[in-house]
Amino acid sequence: MELKMHYADYLKLDSILDAQQLRSDELNAHAHDEMLFIIIHQAYELWFKQLLYELDSIMTIFRKPALNDDSPELQTIVHRLNRSNTILKLLVQQIEVMETMSPMDFLDFRDMLRPASGFQSWQFKLLEAKLGLKYEQRHGEAHYISQLRDAEIRIIKAAESGKSLLELVNSWLERMPFLKDNDFWPGYRQLYLESLSEVEKGHAALFDTVFSEENGNYPCSLSPAACRAGLFIMIYPGYPILQLPYQLLNQLLEMDEQLSTWRYRHMHMVQRTIGTRIGTGGSAGRDYLQGTLDKHFIFHDIAKLTSFLIERKKLPKLDKHMERRLGFASE
Ligand code: HEM
Repeated sequence: MELKMHYADYLKLDSILDAQQLRSDELNAHAHDEMLFIIIHQAYELWFKQLLYELDSIMTIFRKPALNDDSPELQTIVHRLNRSNTILKLLVQQIEVMETMSPMDFLDFRDMLRPASGFQSWQFKLLEAKLGLKYEQRHGEAHYISQLRDAEIRIIKAAESGKSLLELVNSWLERMPFLKDNDFWPGYRQLYLESLSEVEKGHAALFDTVFSEENGNYPCSLSPAACRAGLFIMIYPGYPILQLPYQLLNQLLEMDEQLSTWRYRHMHMVQRTIGTRIGTGGSAGRDYLQGTLDKHFIFHDIAKLTSFLIERKKLPKLDKHMERRLGFASE
């Protein structure tokens, strides 16, 4: 006998649609906008779940020792990063819906929530940790330990101590084969130095610090070998074998941009709604959020590589051997 699946059962709609219990109703002080407030947070949490799901699958592929640069797997990574960024754009837009709630509407139920706060969104903190945000880098790091449940802290700590997406990308870049045993870098370095204006001459030392193993103590989330590979990909994105790696790096930068856009929009919404009052989670509110906006970039060292680009017309001509490896020259 055919077993028919019903829409409501498949989606577990009974549980989902029964999950909006207004605190203001429990306290016999119905506040109309609390429904919007709950639903919008729930929608965010569902999307966070999807983002974590995509991220886990991406990291699983990256962990394979032999990820091939023109394999379907790299395509899958780029595709899923692109999807994640599309979701993040939606999350930024959703702030507009939240902003239809006025400060007075929020005051009708705000005190009833304390000390609950988006600050306790462990999925958001987990997302940041898996991407590569370390505990010491967090603005007001001790705060999250005081706000989350033990089981949630354990999950985030496990992500912080495991390899993050940023670290996996670093290892993948380090493995890039083309740049071993060739004399590309001394020539490129010379052309870069010639491209600097008088006021930028200090960049010469920075170039050596970022790209040379001899300057081991420079604080950078990417190793010199990974930086060299990253820059090479940015210089020559048109070569067939570098097209997907270039898209991948771009998607990572896009992710930082979308996350920081969300932080910025959320911070302004908070300022418009509660001014300079402390958050329901007990943080300094707007100022705390400004700190996370300034400090929680994950892929900023990849973004900084663009400081070392030179004009296309001045680029060194690649030798035949290299061109063949990158997929343009014929035998
Ligand atoms: C009027 C609406 C909102 C207000 C007034 C508000 C306010 C705040 C404040 C003041 C904080 C700082 C922590 C604290 O002390 O509470 C915070 C953090 C946070 N909020 Fe909101 N929020 C609102 C809507 C949202 C929505 C719709 C989301 C979606 C999930 C959200 C997610 C978060 C997250 C993830 C954090 C932690 C950010 C971090 O630690 O970097 N908030 N919020």
